[in-house]
Amino acid sequence: MRKRHKKSKEKWKNSKKQAKDKFNKKKIKTIIKKVLKRIKPSSKDMKNNEKIIKEVSERLMEATPSDVEVVLVGSAAKGTYIKHKKDFDVFLLFPKKYSMSELENIGLEAAKAAFSGYKWKIAYAAHPYIKVEYKRMKIDIVPAYRILNINERATAVDRSPLHTQYINSHLTAKQKDDVRLLKQFMRAHDIYGAELRIEGFSGYLCELLIVKHGSFINTLRSACNWNIPTVIDIEGYYNDHGEILAIYDAPLIVIDPVDKNRNVAAVVSTTSMSKFIFFSRKFLEKPMIKHFFNQETRVSNNLLISKINSRHTTIFTIEFNAPDGIVEDTLWPQLRKMSRIVVDYLKREGFGIIGYYYWTDMIKCIFFIELHSDKIPAVKHIIGPKITFKEGVDRFIDKHKDMIDLYIEHDHIAAMERVNKRTVKEVFDMCIKKKNIGLPKNLSTFINRYKRLSVNKLVKNYKQAVIEYFLPSIKL
Ligand code: CTP
Ligand code: MG
Repeated sequence: MRKRHKKSKEKWKNSKKQAKDKFNKKKIKTIIKKVLKRIKPSSKDMKNNEKIIKEVSERLMEATPSDVEVVLVGSAAKGTYIKHKKDFDVFLLFPKKYSMSELENIGLEAAKAAFSGYKWKIAYAAHPYIKVEYKRMKIDIVPAYRILNINERATAVDRSPLHTQYINSHLTAKQKDDVRLLKQFMRAHDIYGAELRIEGFSGYLCELLIVKHGSFINTLRSACNWNIPTVIDIEGYYNDHGEILAIYDAPLIVIDPVDKNRNVAAVVSTTSMSKFIFFSRKFLEKPMIKHFFNQETRVSNNLLISKINSRHTTIFTIEFNAPDGIVEDTLWPQLRKMSRIVVDYLKREGFGIIGYYYWTDMIKCIFFIELHSDKIPAVKHIIGPKITFKEGVDRFIDKHKDMIDLYIEHDHIAAMERVNKRTVKEVFDMCIKKKNIGLPKNLSTFINRYKRLSVNKLVKNYKQAVIEYFLPSIKL
């Protein structure tokens, strides 16, 4: 009797789950349709873009030597771009007979000549390239070598045309829409882009995930069960995952199908990967369009300030100038490094730290720390070596001459020291003046000329960063 009861309960549970799955599937279908309508370029958009790209190519062909090929790469060449993202990548492919400096000089000069009178600037990745604004489109013009095989690769960007070929021969038109969905999903959760500011998923990585899993939904389903680390080797270049893990140290390892020696996901941080796992799970449990369109947090300055004050913590904020001419992908990792060094130092000195945040608009940099209190006690408790270790104990006594007290604590020698610099500002100042502590050299002089900001100023001038730190909750 009891058994039968259990069985019917299970049956009921199963049918409930099936009904929910069916409901979710239907809901996902409706959401996907709505999202694609907003993010997929219309045929009119596509025609217009093609026309502009043709004009760009013609201008460049005229300005470059006849043995240089002008090709469209990136998401426009692969048909995986999102409607409002109007930036395209055009490569100038040089034969190997050109030296690297010839490639750079001729490439950049040609791009400038082709777009004289337009707004352009030089940008830097592996090597310099030109960014130009042409008819409301942002075009990256990148000189590279023409290679047919990855072994001929001479610069980091030479792979891109091979990526275009690989993606175009491995994805159907429907799957390219799935790439768009995946990109948009990641954008809404702030994990799209391989920039070091974001440490997220690049466009090419999104494409490879769709190649691997077949569709947007299957990619999410798979991500729900990801471990950290996860290994994906689409072309099966390696015998097993152990072999890959012995070579690469990253939370996500996706072997580039066109280059077995590259991890396409090398910049994906553990946090970005965890966000993707978490939000994939949440979306499949309860599909909502919110997962595709990030709602801006609207909150007044006063409310934000009162929220911060109600935490009864100390916020120590510094602002300093960004070094001239530095690029984003250099500055963000340097800010990260600086922040970690300072935070570790303050912790070692006895400060209780709740969190910290850094941010830059490439003109000013800010860094703030949230602490238990503004001051550490006037005494510091230091435990020394074991009493049985004679030399160590003698050295400890010698070193801690300023101590107020010296005593034995269980089997260790211990000291109570006086602390003279007690405020976070004093200890911070000590930290940034230290040599050999690992602070990025080119930031050092700028940090040393810092200005302190009050909470009111911080909120007034850097609201976005404040929201990101103080209101990061998962709004679902
Ligand atoms: N690329 C890469 N790895 C990166 C960044 C770029 O391999 N971390 C290569 C890819 O071949 C990519 C091309 O450079 O297609 C252009 O880069 P980007 O514009 O950043 O990516 P897209 O694929 O064009 O995607 P998006 O829609 O974001 O422009
Ligand atoms: Mg692009």
